[in-house]
Amino acid sequence: MIGITVPPPVRRYIPGMATLNKQARSRWLQGPSAPCETVPKGAHLPWRIVLLGAPGVGKGTQADLLNQRLHACHLSTGDVFRAAGNRSDCELSPVMKEAVAYMRRGELVPDTTVWDMVRERSECLHCAGGFILDGFPRTLAQAVSLKQLMDTEGLGLTAVVNYELPASEIVARLGGRRTCETCKAVYHVTDRPPRVADCCDRCEGKLFQREDDRPESIKVRLEAYDRSTAPLIEFYGKLGLLMRVPATGTPDEICDKTVPELEYRRTKQFANLLWAAEENRRDT
Ligand code: AP5
Repeated sequence: MIGITVPPPVRRYIPGMATLNKQARSRWLQGPSAPCETVPKGAHLPWRIVLLGAPGVGKGTQADLLNQRLHACHLSTGDVFRAAGNRSDCELSPVMKEAVAYMRRGELVPDTTVWDMVRERSECLHCAGGFILDGFPRTLAQAVSLKQLMDTEGLGLTAVVNYELPASEIVARLGGRRTCETCKAVYHVTDRPPRVADCCDRCEGKLFQREDDRPESIKVRLEAYDRSTAPLIEFYGKLGLLMRVPATGTPDEICDKTVPELEYRRTKQFANLLWAAEENRRDT
């Protein structure tokens, strides 16, 4: 008898609880020469989720929460570029230096650079615990490349979650965001302030404002989203993978709305796989 293991839910969001465990995603953050020290326990059908939504809608916050509840690895392309931005210039390749400059201006990094970086880390797509892709794909070309790679390697997506929020609320979320420089936990100066100003609740690291959260970069990022990323909603809608989730309410409330639908989709995907295997067996 084959069963799906669903871990018990964790009820309260604690910023950075998942991101603190950085050694669990060191292969993603630092590249294939830094294998992960801890790998999540495998499930019969790992979660393979893509998060979509405008900058600041709360993808990183939700990825952290989904990681706590589902134990799938949080793979953020923005985190990889920010980690590169923290290194000294002489440690970076010319291509990575250029990528960091695009990020600081709020522009999208060119597709070839992003794809080379993801392909180099493609082992992470096979992670036994599954993955939550945050910030990738972000253009149609990236989505097509990801689909081709996953089809070739026999991997299927569980779902693509699109978080939706009015633009005015998005700007307020970005303007008030503060991030811990040590564990990368995300706060908001009014909505989710730390207990002590500018100090992370979990690791006491210093909180900082991201360079691309300045008003001039926010405008560029929102325009890039409308132009390049919004068309992915139709792309994944046509593939039957899209889940629309209003990003209003507390982070826990949003996650509570998301998880049951994800579970339903994974159960359906599992049943389809069993059905296909049975048909195959009968045909041979
Ligand atoms: P990336 O890091 O992916 O940034 P982004 O998509 O712009 O998203 P953000 O991290 O800004 O926001 P979020 O949706 O994660 O919101 P968060 O949870 O932090 O990319 C950065 C850059 O890297 C790009 O601009 C680009 O240059 C480059 N890049 C990365 N990937 C690329 C790719 N594939 N192709 C090309 N270029 C790429 O929340 C925001 C704030 O809201 C926080 O303060 C949080 O506390 C608060 N908040 C969250 N949820 C709630 C809630 N429910 N209620 C109230 N406040 C909330």
